[in-house]
Amino acid sequence: MVDSHMVTVEPLGVEVACREDQTILDACLRAGVWVPHSCTHGTCGTCKAELVDGDVDHGDSSSFALMDFEREEKLLMCCARPRGPVVVEADMDADEETPSHAVDDYTGTVTLVEDIALDTRRVVVELDREIAFDAGQYMAWQLPPALVGGREGVTRTYSMANPPSSGRTLEFHVRRTPGGACSDGWVFAGLAAGDVVRLTGPYGRFVVRMSRPDRAVLVAGGTGLAPIASMIKRVLLDGPSEHGEGPAHLSLYQGARTREALYDVALFTDLAARFPDRFTYRPCLSEEEAEGYAAGMVTDVLAADHETLHGHVAYVCGPPAMVDAAMRTLMSKQLFPRDMYREEFLDESNRAAGTVRSPLIKR
Ligand SMILES: Cc1cc2nc3c(=O)[nH]c(=O)nc-3n(C[C@H](O)[C@H](O)[C@H](O)COP(=O)(O)OP(=O)(O)OC[C@H]3O[C@@H](n4cnc5c(N)ncnc54)[C@H](O)[C@@H]3O)c2cc1C
Ligand code: FES
Repeated sequence: MVDSHMVTVEPLGVEVACREDQTILDACLRAGVWVPHSCTHGTCGTCKAELVDGDVDHGDSSSFALMDFEREEKLLMCCARPRGPVVVEADMDADEETPSHAVDDYTGTVTLVEDIALDTRRVVVELDREIAFDAGQYMAWQLPPALVGGREGVTRTYSMANPPSSGRTLEFHVRRTPGGACSDGWVFAGLAAGDVVRLTGPYGRFVVRMSRPDRAVLVAGGTGLAPIASMIKRVLLDGPSEHGEGPAHLSLYQGARTREALYDVALFTDLAARFPDRFTYRPCLSEEEAEGYAAGMVTDVLAADHETLHGHVAYVCGPPAMVDAAMRTLMSKQLFPRDMYREEFLDESNRAAGTVRSPLIKR
């Protein structure tokens, strides 16, 4: 029997019971208490909070996201486990559309694994029951211990590409990372229809803001398309939410080097034809010229298309370097940090090396 301790989360003033082997973030999200987080793996620093009182084990916190000298007074909620009663003060921001779906464990059965582009696979999973999430959120996949030296509880995170209306069916896009435990060692090495997977979620706050009618540019690199695809389908196909109708217009900039690396082109071409007043599609190729595709890096095409992006909102997702380049382009086009939302697909190498974080832009 593992001991539990009471964690008081300020400024909310709520108390959450947290086991000694559980992270404070996990205890909060499972109790339906939303606190800021992004990577859930101790890399990005989004969940950094004040340690007002009590003692914690900092676990896997990277020394880049939580420096040694900070550890007396701060903690990463996604890594810290309580050693007794704890009081933390989270860096809450007032965003009424913060996702509020409680995190839970699900068992799923894989129904489809297919190659959709170079080193990219679509995986469809049928869950044991319905899940509620906001478009843009992600799930943590439990890795079979055999793939990670027998360790239990090792996870990797993948974003849903389907809209929330899909009920029990979740669609994921997984890119192969050479030598990667989950992608190379599992999804590209035998994962097949009929296999059982264990998923936990939903996580993240990279969600489409339905309350914002501003025109939106959505910039996707590689499988960074997944959460953005979910957002586009949600806005175009699922109708208004309690918060509003979402962006008045969506422009998708999808980037890849060559055509064989770009996927779901027919799907977005079709959506652009069905919703000509609401959706524009710009597939971009940086190392190949082809009819129907813009030539150049996705950021260069975006910059050439717009003299200014004042009055827009932006959603950007992909590898950290691409996200960083896109944020710079957007700022040069007069977009304010408060109008930019981003998700970086950070991985274990980023955790080991640390990541550059712009102090201007919230994750
Ligand atoms: C919020 C979020 C959502 C994401 N959504 C998606 C998605 O929808 N689709 C998608 O394809 N990806 C997504 N990712 C990335 C995904 O979670 C994985 O990081 C990625 O698939 C690699 O996992 P892996 O297990 O295959 O590789 P890993 O085993 O994690 O290895 C990744 C790289 O790090 C290196 N590495 C491993 N351990 C170390 C170490 N200790 N020191 C130094 N280097 C090391 C490996 O050699 C490899 O190059 C997302 C990431 C985040 C944070
Ligand atoms: S969510 Fe905790 S460091 Fe990223």
